Amino acid sequence: HAGAAVKSNLAHVVTIERHIMDQERMHPEATGALSNLLYDVGLAAKIINSHVRMAGLADILGSTNVVNVQGEVVQKLDEFAEATMQHALLHTGRVCVLASEEDEQPILIPVGYPSGKYTILYDPRDGSSNIDVNVSIGTIFSIHSRVTPGDGPGSLVDCLQPGRTQVAAGYVLYGSSTMMVYTTGHGVHGFTFDPTIGEFLLSHPDITTPAVGKYYSVNESYFPRWDPKVQALIKRYKGLDDNGGEAKNCRYIGSLVADFHRNLIAGGVFCYPADKKAPTGKLRLLYECAPLAFICEQAGGYASDGTQAILDIVPTELHQRSPLYIGSRDDVRMAERMLSGS
Ligand code: AHG
Ligand code: MN
Ligand code: MN
Repeated sequence: HAGAAVKSNLAHVVTIERHIMDQERMHPEATGALSNLLYDVGLAAKIINSHVRMAGLADILGSTNVVNVQGEVVQKLDEFAEATMQHALLHTGRVCVLASEEDEQPILIPVGYPSGKYTILYDPRDGSSNIDVNVSIGTIFSIHSRVTPGDGPGSLVDCLQPGRTQVAAGYVLYGSSTMMVYTTGHGVHGFTFDPTIGEFLLSHPDITTPAVGKYYSVNESYFPRWDPKVQALIKRYKGLDDNGGEAKNCRYIGSLVADFHRNLIAGGVFCYPADKKAPTGKLRLLYECAPLAFICEQAGGYASDGTQAILDIVPTELHQRSPLYIGSRDDVRMAERMLSGS
């Protein structure tokens, strides 16, 4: 009888490794390289998580006085997360080139190491301004198939692909619990880290997001800088205009991954509009907007730059920025209607 109890307990324990294998079986032509790449990301997430959880203890708080390509002061955990991602991804032969928010140029595979058929772009530490105040932060990643021929090192060309061609995308949220959420184009699946066994366990299978959200997320302090159409849109979300729209509740954490995840689960719309100071918005297309847009659409939501789907934007630069309206489908469609003046 005890054996049966153990068997029944274990039956529902699905690790992310097991889930990735199950996803791989949906692709008969799969070689396992994408599965192995996703394992590598999961390992990096566990290592970064172990440091995030100790950030207050180890001497990795505080800034390094180094300014990155974005012109922002690099926090020490940024450096650690960046180093961990490179260490987990550069030498395994799954990718032909990497790109990171923290590096101006694409990161090339070291001489003597094999190149693979994928490329991965990532934001190693999202929500940097929240690190020292113990607020949730995250990691975001986007995976494409290489487009350059052969099996040698890749290049910038392999990085500048529209979001619609992603083969996988995901994020890690270092929150009240640590979660990893990913899609390979067959739905969105969430895993919660169990520190007692050091595994990500399936906790949120087939995540779908409501068509209309109860939250809106935006940095209201920028209101004076916004275009009047953006101001009107936020008023609409507040239920303040005469169209009688249901008033939404406001939640803004300042870490994109945390704001996105709450809205994905509970329903909501996250906005980072263009403004006078940031005419193309602040968030980066390739490793913030596009991976979250892929996940969002897979969950039944939608993501736009205000005029077109994020996934349809063809990138021209590695760190190009985009305005972002992402989350519950009807709320984002509303944004497109109001911003295009239709
Ligand atoms: P990162 O730490 O990778 O630079 O990202 C920070 C981003 C995003 O996480 C968040 O939504 C946004 O910055 C907050 O910007 P504001 O402080 O301008 O609201
Ligand atoms: Mn970020
Ligand atoms: Mn970052």
